[in-house]
Amino acid sequence: MKHIAIFASGNGSNAENIINFFAGKASATVSCVLTNNADAPVAGKARRAGVPCLAFDRKAFDDGTQICRFLDLHRADYVVLAGFLWLVPGYLTDRFEGRIVNIHPALLPKFGGRGMYGMHVHRAVIEAGEKRSGITVHEVSRRYDEGRIICSVECAVMPDDTPESLAERIHGLEHKWFPTIIENEIEKLAAAE
Ligand code: GAR
Repeated sequence: MKHIAIFASGNGSNAENIINFFAGKASATVSCVLTNNADAPVAGKARRAGVPCLAFDRKAFDDGTQICRFLDLHRADYVVLAGFLWLVPGYLTDRFEGRIVNIHPALLPKFGGRGMYGMHVHRAVIEAGEKRSGITVHEVSRRYDEGRIICSVECAVMPDDTPESLAERIHGLEHKWFPTIIENEIEKLAAAE
């Protein structure tokens, strides 16, 4: 049984969906949630689901001691970034090499990088006149949105789309596909052990 730690900064609809997906599964469980924003809805969602949640500040994130202790306590061996907006430091990318993934709400390598998150991404996609968008799940490296791409799923951008309507379609794709993609990756890791 793998123990998944989820990092999230905001609403946490993906975090909640992943927690629910793995509830009762034998392959993995979400053992903890970590957030850089104690007031973010994701913290309440985790607590309501009975999943321990740690809120940390910039100093603790850079230092790493408290975070690593929490990850140890909850036996985390796989990390998922689900709407987490801070650049991940080396102590995490090293420790979880090949076992840390992010979801990006567009088709990388376009529309990625610093400042490209949430609504900013959808606005940029529409302004660029793209006909297709989607989601990309990728490994996390020391640079924003540049790790190995694991999987992407496309959808249409409609002529009358607003950033909000596109965000809704993308969230639908995320909720449908992200947990299964994580499960596949975890099964591959388990088979290679
Ligand atoms: C998701 O759409 C995710 O792809 C995006 O933030 C949203 C979080 O939604 N992540 C990024 O933009 C990272 N660059 P949620 O809080 O409802 O899960």
